Amino acid sequence: MSTDISRYTITAALPYANGPVHIGHLAGCYLPSDIYARYQRKQGRELIFVCGTDEHGAAINMKAQAEGVQPKEIVDKYHAIIRDSLKDIGISFDIFSRTSNETHHKTAQEFFKEMYKNGSLEEKTTAQYYDPQAGQFLADRFIMGECPNCHFAEAYGDQCENCGTSLSPTELISPKSRLSGAAPELKETKHWFLPLDHLSDKIKSYIQSHKDWKPNVYGQCMSWLESKDGLQARSMTRDLDWGIPVPLDDAEGKVLYVWFDAPIGYISATKELLGDAWVDYWKKDDTKLVHFIGKDNIVFHCITFPAMLMEHGGFHLADEVPANEFLNLEGKKISTSRNWAVWLHEYLEDFKGQEDVLRYVLTATAPESKDNDFTWLDFQTRNNSELVAILGNFVNRVQVLMQKYYDGAIPAASKLETVDEEALTEVAAAPTTIEESLEKYRFREALSRMMSLARLGNKYLADQEPWKRIKDQPQRTATIMYVAAQITAQLSQMMEPFLPFSAAKLQEDLGMENWAWSECSRKEFLAPGSKIASSGHLFSKVEDKIIEAQKDKLEAMAKAAQGPSYEPVKDEIQFEDFTKLDLRVGTIVSAQKVKKANKLLHLEVDLGFETRTIVSGIAEHFSPEELPGTKVSVVANLAPRKLRGVMSQGMILMAEDSDGKLTFTSVPESMPNGSIIR
Ligand code: 2FM
Ligand code: ZN
Repeated sequence: MSTDISRYTITAALPYANGPVHIGHLAGCYLPSDIYARYQRKQGRELIFVCGTDEHGAAINMKAQAEGVQPKEIVDKYHAIIRDSLKDIGISFDIFSRTSNETHHKTAQEFFKEMYKNGSLEEKTTAQYYDPQAGQFLADRFIMGECPNCHFAEAYGDQCENCGTSLSPTELISPKSRLSGAAPELKETKHWFLPLDHLSDKIKSYIQSHKDWKPNVYGQCMSWLESKDGLQARSMTRDLDWGIPVPLDDAEGKVLYVWFDAPIGYISATKELLGDAWVDYWKKDDTKLVHFIGKDNIVFHCITFPAMLMEHGGFHLADEVPANEFLNLEGKKISTSRNWAVWLHEYLEDFKGQEDVLRYVLTATAPESKDNDFTWLDFQTRNNSELVAILGNFVNRVQVLMQKYYDGAIPAASKLETVDEEALTEVAAAPTTIEESLEKYRFREALSRMMSLARLGNKYLADQEPWKRIKDQPQRTATIMYVAAQITAQLSQMMEPFLPFSAAKLQEDLGMENWAWSECSRKEFLAPGSKIASSGHLFSKVEDKIIEAQKDKLEAMAKAAQGPSYEPVKDEIQFEDFTKLDLRVGTIVSAQKVKKANKLLHLEVDLGFETRTIVSGIAEHFSPEELPGTKVSVVANLAPRKLRGVMSQGMILMAEDSDGKLTFTSVPESMPNGSIIR
């Protein structure tokens, strides 16, 4: 590691405040950034870890429109949900701000003005899509059409979410307004562009100075830079009514492009956190700037934002962009609109006290180099056979045996045998191997190296069998338990970046603090005589029924998002077929249950000219007491049928929804019994 870094600026992508965050967001950037920040803090490095909600852009407008409320209401609601859920899963931001606040508006406007003044922006009048029905210019996100690259039918005007290509709306084939469905028209409007086409060489040499970036990141950047048409100038302003006003006189009704203001949000959050000292974290070259993002954000963090910073001048550029690929869920792409997601705030409700389990599973399956799949079965298996059976089991055995044999006080070791020496050598080496992975952003590998310590502990105890020796070999047993205590202590330290809740609990049981990383390359953590308490198991088994319930919930939510399903219409009939039916208005005069039939009610129905007995399969939907007096429609000429010994002379018409819920077809009170329905 180079030694000339004085401070770290660690950013995690600002989530849009148009919905809660799900496990894909967590796995993609919040967990890796948190592990990294916790690790660097433990290393004693000066750092800030910043984030906040991204509250502008068409995504917010779309949501507000869908819910029939103002954008402000949407961002207030989701800012709070996102902030609380990320905090509760232990993401240790130094600040979680929002782009709607004043500091940010000012910072973004000043940034824009400086670029305008120094000639970095090109003013251009161009033809933009306009929705003639809605009477407004369409933000890129409000336009949908076919992707010119992969021919996905539902690409957005700024990006195809299928192949990741960044687009401009005029590139879409057969564009449509998402506001009204109308075909948009081109209309002239003035905007300010970042001339990426002219900056291409500068950007290319910047990217090429980072050949060490993850191959998925470096590869994506180079493929844009070397694409047939090269980089295109991009407009940094929009015709929208929600956003940061463009700070120029001739820009009425125009706002900053959300991808212009959002990354500046990292800077504004730093200002809010540190005041004037923000400058050190953004302008000094002995700073290491690390952006944690998902792969759909690569172009904005590796090309657009660095270009903005270069053109503004005076800024330090990103040193690392360890972007992750996507996480799928039960084999399907996570989708907000199809409600195919595990929402973080719901997980926290359903799995109280099990925050670390989700952190563990998502880190172990993180899509670091390729897309990966989260399944509830894997969640259960990793919890039960790794966290419970390996980590939790080892720690618990040490705590229980220590209590049983030594009243909780660590015994002194006598002569160390080779196995003991080997175990302690591994204990002392753990920080170095874990550090090696973390410094390379290999979080899965780092986690697995941490778990190796627990595996070592289990194997050590299983091989040494202190429980068989306690009677005859008290000295040997004491040595074994001394060594086991040191493994446990090291675990409590190395767990912290990954499993902070369990680490804190274990450290407390051991009477330890969260030690500095540099203090952890040692063989002895706890001296003989120090006490080990036990506040209960670190992890507990997740039963099958919990997993089944989560899978059912997922299916049910997805089904609800699809809306009602309709049965196909039956084969055509002739008018004569219809006229064969004799439908009449009636009133239920009495109702009672039919013996030994859960579904049936015995009804007496007044048809005016006579009272009929009708047996109806509605007992699960209505109680007999509520029915007398109800006006109903009756099929009056249906052949009589015996049901459970009662002769039924007709049928009542019912409406049934897609969930099987029944209601009577409505007939006004004023309609006399016996009236014909046709
Ligand atoms: O893709 C997204 O969810 C964006 N809101 C990320 C913004 S990251 C940064 F630039 F603010
Ligand atoms: Zn595409």
